Amino acid sequence: MKEKIEKLRQDAAEAIKEKVANLTDLNDIRVKYLGKKGELTAILRGMSQLGAEDRPKIGKIVNEARAQLEALITEKNEQLKARELADKLSSERIDVTLPGRQFRVGHLHPLTLTMGRIKNIFLNMGFSIEEGPEIETDYFNFEALNLPKDHPARDMQDSFYITEEILMRTQTSPVQARTMQSREPNSPIRMIAPGRVYRRDDYDATHSPMFTQVEGLVIDKGISFADLKGTLEVALRQIFDEKVGVRFRPSFFPFTEPSTEVDISCVMCHGAGCRVCKGTGWLEILGAGMVHPHVLEMSGYDPAKVSGFAFGLGVERIAMLSYGIDDLRLFYDNDVRFLRQF
Ligand code: FA5
Ligand code: MG
Repeated sequence: MKEKIEKLRQDAAEAIKEKVANLTDLNDIRVKYLGKKGELTAILRGMSQLGAEDRPKIGKIVNEARAQLEALITEKNEQLKARELADKLSSERIDVTLPGRQFRVGHLHPLTLTMGRIKNIFLNMGFSIEEGPEIETDYFNFEALNLPKDHPARDMQDSFYITEEILMRTQTSPVQARTMQSREPNSPIRMIAPGRVYRRDDYDATHSPMFTQVEGLVIDKGISFADLKGTLEVALRQIFDEKVGVRFRPSFFPFTEPSTEVDISCVMCHGAGCRVCKGTGWLEILGAGMVHPHVLEMSGYDPAKVSGFAFGLGVERIAMLSYGIDDLRLFYDNDVRFLRQF
C-alpha cells in the first residue's frame, strides 16, 4: 500500500514537472490524481477496508502526498499563467514608433485646379466674379448678344433646348448682358464669369458637348483694343510660361467688333503639327473682341460714353495645354489612374 501511494505520488510529481505544457494539461493531471474519481482519491475512499492500526498511517501518507501534489500543481499553475501573460504581452506588443497608416486623401479635379488658377489671376487684376444660370433664356444667350432669332451665327452654337425660349446656355457670354443690366447704366465693370456651357458638339480629343468657360467683361471710359491685348497677354503668360507662343487671329462674333480668336502654340508638338492641334501647330483657347455698340445699347449702356472688351476662355483647352494632356475626354472619364496625377 505504502509503495503504491509512493509510486502514484512520484508519477504525478513527474507528470506535473515534465509533461505539462499548458493549463489544460495541468488540469487533466489534477483530475487524474486528485479529482473525484482520481487515483489518490480512490485510495482514500478505500481506507475503510484497512485495519484500524494501518488507517492513520496510510491516511497520513495519502494526505501528505495529496498536499505535496496540490502544492506542485499550484506552483505549476502560477508558472504557466505567468508564461501565458508574458507570451501575450510580447505577441501583442505595439510598436508606437512605427509609421501610421496612410489615408488616401482626395484632391481637386484638374479642371477645378485650372479654374482656380484662372480666377486668381483675374482677381489679382481687380476683376469681380459674377454668376449666371446654366439654364438660360434665348434672350440672354442670343438676342441680348446681337443674335436675333434668324441670325445665321446661331448655327455655330446649336444647343439643347428645353422650350423654344429656354435652353442650356451655349456660352458664358449671357452673363455679360446680365451684369450690365444689374448695374447703373454706364457704370464701370471689370468681371469674370466662370461656369459650364453646353453645345451639340462632337465628343473628340478637343471637344465635349459640356465644357467650361470663363467669360470676361471690362467696360469703362476709353477702353481700347490695346487694353484687351495687354490684359489677355498678361493673363496668358501667367497661365502658361513666358515662352509660349500667343497668336491673335481675326474672327467674328456678333457681339464684338472687331473680334479675335487667340491661339497658343501647341505644347504637345511645339508647332510641328499633331492630333491635338489638327496639324496646325496652334490651339484655339479663347474668343474675344470689343463689345459691339448695339450690345451695350441693348443693356442700357451708352456707346458714345463708354466702351469695353470681352473674352471667353475655354478652360478644358487651357488645362490640356498647361498639363500636356492630349485628350480632353480624360477629364470626364473619372479614371483614378489619371486623376491621381494632379
Ligand atoms: C464663344 O463661346 C464666345 N462666347 C467667346 C467670346 C466671348 C467671344 C466674349 C467674344 C467675346 P467660341 O465658340 O469660340 O466662343 O468658344 C470659346 C472657347 O471655348 C474656344 O476657344 C474653346 O477653347 C472652347 N470651346 C469651344 N467649344 C468647345 C467644346 N465643344 N469643347 C471644349 N471647349 C470648347
Ligand atoms: Mg471658336
